[in-house]
Amino acid sequence: ASHSENYRPLYHFSPRKGWINDPNGLLYLDGTWHLFFQYYPHAPIHGPMYWGHATSCDLVCWQEQPVALCPQGSIYMFSGSAVVDYGNTSGFGDGTTPPLVAIYTAHDIAETDPNQVENQALAYSLDGGMTWAQYAGNPVLQSPGLPDFRDPKVSWDAECGRWLMVLAAGDRVHFYESADLINWRFLSEFGAECGAHGGVWECPDLFSLPVKNEFWEDGLDADDSEGCAPEKEKWVLLVSINPGGPNEGSATQYFVGDFDGTTFTLDESQPCASARWVDWGRDNYAGVLFNNVPGDRRVMIGWMSNWDYAAELPSAADGWLGQMTIPRELSLVVNSEGYVLKSYPVPELFARREQGSRLFRCGKVEVANEEVPMIPFGELDLKRGMIKVSLHGLGAGQSTITFRNPWGQELRLGVNNVEGSARAELFVDRSDAGSEVLPKNFPVPLMVAPLAGGMRNSMRMLLCLDKTSLECFANRGERCVTASVYPSAAFTEMGFSAESTGATFSLEAYALHVDNCE
Ligand code: FRU
Repeated sequence: ASHSENYRPLYHFSPRKGWINDPNGLLYLDGTWHLFFQYYPHAPIHGPMYWGHATSCDLVCWQEQPVALCPQGSIYMFSGSAVVDYGNTSGFGDGTTPPLVAIYTAHDIAETDPNQVENQALAYSLDGGMTWAQYAGNPVLQSPGLPDFRDPKVSWDAECGRWLMVLAAGDRVHFYESADLINWRFLSEFGAECGAHGGVWECPDLFSLPVKNEFWEDGLDADDSEGCAPEKEKWVLLVSINPGGPNEGSATQYFVGDFDGTTFTLDESQPCASARWVDWGRDNYAGVLFNNVPGDRRVMIGWMSNWDYAAELPSAADGWLGQMTIPRELSLVVNSEGYVLKSYPVPELFARREQGSRLFRCGKVEVANEEVPMIPFGELDLKRGMIKVSLHGLGAGQSTITFRNPWGQELRLGVNNVEGSARAELFVDRSDAGSEVLPKNFPVPLMVAPLAGGMRNSMRMLLCLDKTSLECFANRGERCVTASVYPSAAFTEMGFSAESTGATFSLEAYALHVDNCE
């Protein structure tokens, strides 16, 4: 890779040129995963929005494709979704292949009434998503007089034989139904009184998931006890919010409840006054799920950035900005915390572990605050690292994993059993992790995710590292912290320390085989 590719991730999607933000129109079709996205091809800025396009056969390596949707005069192509219209309900088909239909927000900057700027419109493709035509009757759903009315997520409701739409309307979501994707009928709304409201609601998604029982014993990791049969099904509503995230800026919250075909009702066990977060890190926003995935897998991709600083990251100097998260599989468990939405990297990523690169290590903190001898990763390339870490015997205070590079830059993360309280939290600290040219508000604050169940004696974490990111999954995805990080060189070693003696760690690390992603 050339110097200008210093920040190019190895296994996360990033654009060759220009700017990206939200994933759009995520769709699986005939062996291909389609990732469309908010895109401005001409410069690394949020300009007149296009939908860019990339495809993958395995959710790991992505090939950029020609642009899918272009701005139409004053109308920008804002976020939305795409469906396979198997029944040709829209009439866009040619009688041989089912049309793909994109439902997007037509954001019209020439509109003088601020309450009519955002309307929903359609485009369709008859060649598997490579070229798209605009529907002549656009828009299909006009703003009911709201300044924010966008990001339609449409899916097929097989039970009722209709299309369902959820879209963001300022401080709430609206639900609509349609028989043909063209005529939409309002069903209900949700959220004005629930969840986080520190900013505008964006990019919602609604889907059902089977519930897995998860029993807890002190110190037992979640993935040892997930074998129970699904108890029932629940509905999950994702809502991104900007600002107002738990660690400032943009983030995605979720609600668990029931959807009776018309109305979404929050489950009694769920907090209404507070929010639950899909990811506590600063860099996972606007995530939604793929449509049309076989086997009912729930696969989500988010934009790995934050509106607080998305426009100022170092790769802008190289003419591109933005990357996506690892695709994650979502599951719903019920445990002592109630319903918890978990996310974990898709199995396709685990399949990329290079067996020959495997490294085992373990150690114990004998002296408080003294780092146990550093682990050099040697040949194992941490720019494409996947590491499982188990911590045991954790005492009061912080237990900290530190990644270091030859520049002395440090990325720290760990568990804090907060002294003098019964609280425990996961933390990620990138404030000393690099580079010279970061935006002012990038290093702070410390990213913190509270953990359930008081003091933690043990913790299992999966860490995925790329050149410019860390994705941390605690207890098999019960808590996630996604952080972009811009070290001047790859991390090459790891240390472990704790404020209490007796803490042990063991790790199993792999390099991911992603050479063919180039
Ligand atoms: C979320 C968002 C969406 C909007 C898009 C515009 O990041 O603000 O609400 O459709 O980005 O690019």
